[in-house]
Amino acid sequence: MRENKAVGIIGLGCYVPEKVLTNFDLEKMVDTSNDWIVERTGIKQRHIAGDDVATSDLAVKAAEQALADAGISADELDLIIVGTATPDMYFPSVACIIQNKLKATKAAAFDLSAGCSGFVYGLVTGSQFIISGLYKKVLVVGAETLSKILDWTDRNTCVLFGDGAGAAVLSVVDDGYGILGVELGAEGAGGHYLSLPAGGSRLPASELTVANRSHFVHMNGNEVFKFAIKVMGEAALKALENASLKPEDVDCFIPHQANIRIIQSAAKRLKMPMEKVMINVDKYGNTSSASIPIALKEAVMNGKVKKDDTIVLVGFGAGLTWASCVIKWCKEDNTIV
Ligand code: ACO
Repeated sequence: MRENKAVGIIGLGCYVPEKVLTNFDLEKMVDTSNDWIVERTGIKQRHIAGDDVATSDLAVKAAEQALADAGISADELDLIIVGTATPDMYFPSVACIIQNKLKATKAAAFDLSAGCSGFVYGLVTGSQFIISGLYKKVLVVGAETLSKILDWTDRNTCVLFGDGAGAAVLSVVDDGYGILGVELGAEGAGGHYLSLPAGGSRLPASELTVANRSHFVHMNGNEVFKFAIKVMGEAALKALENASLKPEDVDCFIPHQANIRIIQSAAKRLKMPMEKVMINVDKYGNTSSASIPIALKEAVMNGKVKKDDTIVLVGFGAGLTWASCVIKWCKEDNTIV
């Protein structure tokens, strides 16, 4: 019998590869300009993984930090969930690869495919295992190496993304803290607006798929933009309603870092002053499922999120999907490793 249904984040970690690619570097690669990228997206630079680095390598580093921050060892983990659109390979999953690297031998492990919403989908999924009483400690990771699936000759997409990983340890927390409300959703009808067409069972890898550049991200930016503008605010409002809260109760809003204009529009919809909004898209670009945990960790590190604060995470992404989560922050201090 469980006595406490409150589930929250007790440890956070994040990692980005060292190499930085600036807009000025991109000017030398495709027909673009720093001014265009900054004005349309807010991005100034992004971090890019080396040739010999895969998603699990970033995920392990973020996970190790999250475990240290939570003060638990890997063998205490019951479950590992990794949200990713860029796994090392089809199988084994990134979750199984990092289960081995972390030596989390007791943990069940699986990947979750929800595009940039993957981390928040993972938080909600992981929390259910704890609420049900089945598990006690769950590691949720959002990790990506988008740079590996970008067409570096396509200026419409290659300027937008970056690599990175973020991780959170979920556990039972004191009553009144932790996840207070959630909202998950999908609009599969719009899935074709953002896809990686080849390499699966629909279009197995062939000389033709390689020649057609079908193993790269294909995106209708305008349609994804319209979708994001619509769902970001709505999803956050629904999660708040689910928690019986209002936008004015929120201390910090942590949106998926895809584009500054999308973030501003969501903040406007929520009537959220920009000083309550966490923004780091300028430094990392869109790191897909890693963006929200990286932004959350930075917000905690720089004191933007403190104990007793009410925060809202909201993401959108490939699928198309959206996900939002309201959390009452329970950690005593900001001394995250
Ligand atoms: N540099 C210079 N010019 C460019 C670039 C570039 N990097 N990219 C596109 N352009 C050009 C276009 O070709 C177009 O030229 P044209 O008018 O001669 O045809 C012009 O700029 C305007 O293009 P738009 O697409 O209308 O520009 P917009 O203001 O819509 O911005 C953007 C494009 C930034 C892609 C925007 O639509 C957007 O952010 N969409 C959402 C994308 C997103 O967030 N995707 C991630 C989803 S999450 C996930 O799961 C991965």
